Amino acid sequence: MSGNRRLVILISGRGSNCLALVDAARRGWLGFEIAAVISDRPGAPGLELAGGAGVDTVVVDASAYSDRGDFESALAVVIEGFAPERIALAGFMRILSAGFLDRFPGQMLNIHPSLLPRFRGLDTHTRVLEAGESEHGASIHLVTPELDAGPVLARARVPVKDEDTPDSLAERVLAVEHRLYPAVMALLSRCLVELRNDVIHLEGKPLARPLELGVDLDDRGHRIRDD
Ligand code: GRF
Repeated sequence: MSGNRRLVILISGRGSNCLALVDAARRGWLGFEIAAVISDRPGAPGLELAGGAGVDTVVVDASAYSDRGDFESALAVVIEGFAPERIALAGFMRILSAGFLDRFPGQMLNIHPSLLPRFRGLDTHTRVLEAGESEHGASIHLVTPELDAGPVLARARVPVKDEDTPDSLAERVLAVEHRLYPAVMALLSRCLVELRNDVIHLEGKPLARPLELGVDLDDRGHRIRDD
């Protein structure tokens, strides 16, 4: 990892988390320069949002490759061209192979709309309501080849209300995602966070449980509590 505080963001769609990161960088507190936003889909609305905010955008069109390996090689070359310290997946709708991830060891983060390790995969809001949960939220984890299964660095909780629908719950979770991702990146800009034997180490110490936004971490990524 180069330690150069350059961030590349990968998207496939709407790009609201990407925009939250871009906004925090523009306001000067993200602690990272956004080197580029890369999409695997040419029409991703997030590309226009990022471009409109003055960030370099690149498309590596997955549909142009019949072979997953060829697509991943092309994507890796583009990412490496920006020499990022970290790579943030923000609504990037692809499972990445172990070979691809080996090129970016411990550098890649993802945001997922559930309190991981619960509710991996898709349709989390509907599944949380069906399960009768009283709380829900979002998680940032380091990316490993198994979907949504990498070690969890930080989470943000939201209550589930009796009157919630999947849409109302999605809206509440998304609002907290937009706080969580920039806070975690700001934390990463000033703390040493490494993966050792699949365990997250923060300033050399193994992380016993994910950091909680509003409990362990404030909205600017400062540690509130350190235990
Ligand atoms: C977010 O809910 C994120 O957690 C999930 O995909 C969604 C992306 O939304 N991985 P957006 O593109 O950032 O608006």
